Order: sequence, then structure tokens, then C-alpha cells
Amino acid sequence: MYKIATIPGDGTGPEVVREGLKVLEAAAQKHGFKYELVDYDLGGERYLKTGEILPDSVVEELKQCNSIFLGAIGHPDVQPGILEKGLLLKARFALQQYINLRPVKLYPGVDCPLKDKGPDDIDFVVVRENNEGLYAGIGGFLKKGTPEEVATQEMINTRQGVERCIRYAFEYTRKRGKRKQLLLCAKTNVLTYAHDLWWRVFNEVGEEYSDIKREYAHVDATCMWMVKNPEWFDVIVTCNMFGDIITDLGAMIQGGMGIAAGGNVNPEGVSMFEPIGGSAPKYTDKNVINPVAAILALTMLLEQLGEDKAAASIERAVIDVIGNKLKGVNAGQMGYSTSEVGDLIVANIA
Ligand code: IPM
Ligand code: MN
Repeated sequence: MYKIATIPGDGTGPEVVREGLKVLEAAAQKHGFKYELVDYDLGGERYLKTGEILPDSVVEELKQCNSIFLGAIGHPDVQPGILEKGLLLKARFALQQYINLRPVKLYPGVDCPLKDKGPDDIDFVVVRENNEGLYAGIGGFLKKGTPEEVATQEMINTRQGVERCIRYAFEYTRKRGKRKQLLLCAKTNVLTYAHDLWWRVFNEVGEEYSDIKREYAHVDATCMWMVKNPEWFDVIVTCNMFGDIITDLGAMIQGGMGIAAGGNVNPEGVSMFEPIGGSAPKYTDKNVINPVAAILALTMLLEQLGEDKAAASIERAVIDVIGNKLKGVNAGQMGYSTSEVGDLIVANIA
């Protein structure tokens, strides 16, 4: 019996989580696993009403769950940074979800903005460090608001944090078993301390994985190759900030935010899965947002629980529905509503 926490959150989050849960139920019936849901009304609305974002007591409850399914965080009436830091980053840090796993996969029938590139060319995974780097939150102001103002934001890289991320990436590349190639994306020519550490750890740990081919690219070149030759990538490992940036580029080459999913993974603990598109206030409550990103996040959640068959059958259903039914994958262009897309996928699984 799995205990799954749901945090529908803000904007279109509740709509896509609702569809994800329909699909979860269909998969459970078909594959015979059992689960209970614990719903948390965290997000912008609760913050505006009570001032609470992610109370410590909720963190303790989340630690008792097998997994977390998150919709979206971000509210137009809340100043940027408050909910992001208070909820998303707090959960990532407090639950030690030190990996952000982001598959970049172009499904058949999905429009790709890259000329002459198809599903055979775009299928790689980004392993983003998720607890340190520029996200650590160390920094400050000096003489704030004056012409001499100084602002700092430190990039924190610990040997332990870098090593566990890189080790996970090598293991993941081996398990994925595709091209067995791991690329370190960094900036060793400028970040000559921080990324020197990444470079050394990458090569030291890599010695233990003689079956995995090691590659390196600077982050700017990585962006270039993602557009020009995405077929060169198998698994990319990178720091928090660079991972944030290159995975939005990745989301675009796989067809857009309507299908991009990610996981905040603690391999030894509780992980949290989410569509990466954000709360999309413009589309909220219109029943037009694409729930596929959330449904693919759910497949990642099930894989993490070890329900590989259920995950695979949902992915097959998604591929079939995207390829044969939907007119497009962006909000409002699918030819179906949010709930109809959920229904199509449920029917396909059954
Ligand atoms: C993401 C988001 C977050 C991040 C924001 C909302 C804090 O952009 O998950 O990629 O920067 O990590
Ligand atoms: Mn991002």
C-alpha cells in the first residue's frame, strides 16, 4: 500500500493533478497495486490566507509518505521568490532530493522546433544537482539601495554533494543502458574552483565505471549542441543553475511545457514529481492545459516506486494518444480539453 502525497498547488496545478490521479487509478486497477492519497492544500492561496507556506510539521508528514505528486507553484498575487523558496526549494532541501531528473524525449507526432530532427534524435536525460550551487541561498547585500551597493550570491559546491550527484548519474547511465555515455556540462574555463571540483570528481568516480564513456562540454556549447546535434546526448550531469537553464531548452526541443516532466529525487528517501511548466495563470480553470506533463511525471513516480509495468503502460498510452488523437501538445491546441485528454489516456490504459 503506497502512501502518496498530493500537492496540487497553484494555477493549473489542480487541473493537471486531477487528470494524473484519474490515470493513477486506471493504472492501479490494471496492474494491481494499492495506494492511499494524502492531499495538501499548500500554495499561494493558503499563504495569502494564513501566511503558511510549507510548515515543518508538513515536512515531517511528507517524510512518512512513499512519494509526492506536485502540480505547480506560483501565484500572481505573491511576490516572486516567496513560494519558490518557501515551498519548492524547502521541500527539495528538507527532503534531501539531491537529484533533479529531467528526461528530454520527443514523442512521435509532436512538433519539434528543430529542423530535420525527429524522435530518433531527441532522447536524453539531464541529471541536475538539486540541493546546492547557486540555489543554496548564501549571499547578501552591502550598502543596499545606494550607488555603491554590492550584492553577492555564493555558488556552494561540496565534495559530498557533487560526488553523490555524479555517482547517481553514472549509475543512471548504466541502468538506462542506451549509449552508455555520460556528459559533464560545466564551465571549467571560468569557474576554475567550483567546476574544477566537478571535473575532478567526475573523472575520479568515472574510473569506477569503465563501461561508461565520459564526455565533457561547457554549458554554452551544450546549449549549442542541444539545438544542432541533440542526438549526441545520452545522459548529461550538471550543477543546479545550469541544469535549470538547459532543461527549459530541453523542454522546448521535446515539444514544449505541455509534455515536460521532472522528478526531485532522493534515491534513499522520499521523492517529488512534477510537470515542469509552472502554474500558467493565463490558462487557469479553462480546462485547456495539457495534462500530459503531469501524467508523465506520474510515470516517473511509479518507476521510482518500482511499478515499472504500470509506468510503461501509461507511457504507451500517452504515446498513442499524442500520436493518434491530439492535434497539438500546447494548451488550447490539442483539439481536446484537459479532462478529455485524461479520459483518452485512461481509456487507452484500460
Ligand atoms: C524548476 C523551476 C524552479 C527552479 C523555480 C520555480 C524555483 O524553474 O523547477 O526548474 O529554478 O528550480
Ligand atoms: Mn526551471
